[in-house]
Amino acid sequence: WLAVAGTARTVLLAAPRSFCAGVERAIEVVEQALAQRGSPVYVRKQIVHNTHVVADLESRGAVFVDELDAVPEGATVVFSAHGVSPRVHQEAAERSLRVIDATCPLVTKVHTEARRYASRGDTVVLIGHAGHEEVEGTLGEAPERTVLVETPEDVAALEVADPERVSYLTQTTLATDETAAVVDALRARFPALRGPASDDICYATTNRQDALKSIAEESDLVLVVGSDNSSNSVRLVELAERCGTPARLIDDTGDIRPEWLAGARTVGLTAGASAPPGLVEAVITALGGLGPVTVHEREITRETIHFTLPSVVRPS
Ligand code: F3S
Repeated sequence: WLAVAGTARTVLLAAPRSFCAGVERAIEVVEQALAQRGSPVYVRKQIVHNTHVVADLESRGAVFVDELDAVPEGATVVFSAHGVSPRVHQEAAERSLRVIDATCPLVTKVHTEARRYASRGDTVVLIGHAGHEEVEGTLGEAPERTVLVETPEDVAALEVADPERVSYLTQTTLATDETAAVVDALRARFPALRGPASDDICYATTNRQDALKSIAEESDLVLVVGSDNSSNSVRLVELAERCGTPARLIDDTGDIRPEWLAGARTVGLTAGASAPPGLVEAVITALGGLGPVTVHEREITRETIHFTLPSVVRPS
């Protein structure tokens, strides 16, 4: 640390960053469930993909489980912000679980589209990352009619029943530029392609990427606060790298390595949609411990979106 201490630095702070409306709502759902029903409240999967959020709720009585068979009959279970497939709803009903669904409304919208496209007889092409919980959930709406692609190469290899009847959907947290390339490839192969008005990438993902783009090139190093299973956070790291700037994903200040900061006079800083804002403040404080820091916030837009809580936990 001594080698990088004493250097004056500029921090370019991207805005918007950190919590989106869907994450705030999901956390509040668990908090309200704990307040109204007491501990334990079971949560299927991580409520949002952030280790700090999960640890905090765990310390307050939430119990995170991987699958519903770990939840006792009749107990309360919260479904995470990423959404679940109909199979999970069915299993919960069979086990008489008291479900509180914290699925982000913008993920629910994609599920609705999946059902609509599948029911009109289309092959549904879902653009997303294999294995991600949101993708698992969306695929589950019409598993026999939906295929997953990640890249333009995947599109070239697609086989569909009727090229005239193809629709597409996307995961909400993809990179906008990469997704556009996949949609272009789809449209080139299937000119009759139908889909959502633009794509399903949510406002928060788009805003965080656009904000980062506005600071990445001027930065010597970009730090993205987020956990490594957070899709939109990982996309931010990749985006900074595509802008030509080295970038690192950090869960908190403890992950910052001194050698990253050597020669980095201008540090770009942002956070994924599941990362608490306090962690960003802590990074600025930590950098301040290494020398004088001037912070410039670059706000490209102001987010005012707020989602109401599910009625079962809405305080009266
Ligand atoms: Fe929802 Fe987008 Fe956040 S889909 S949970 S608003 S990252």
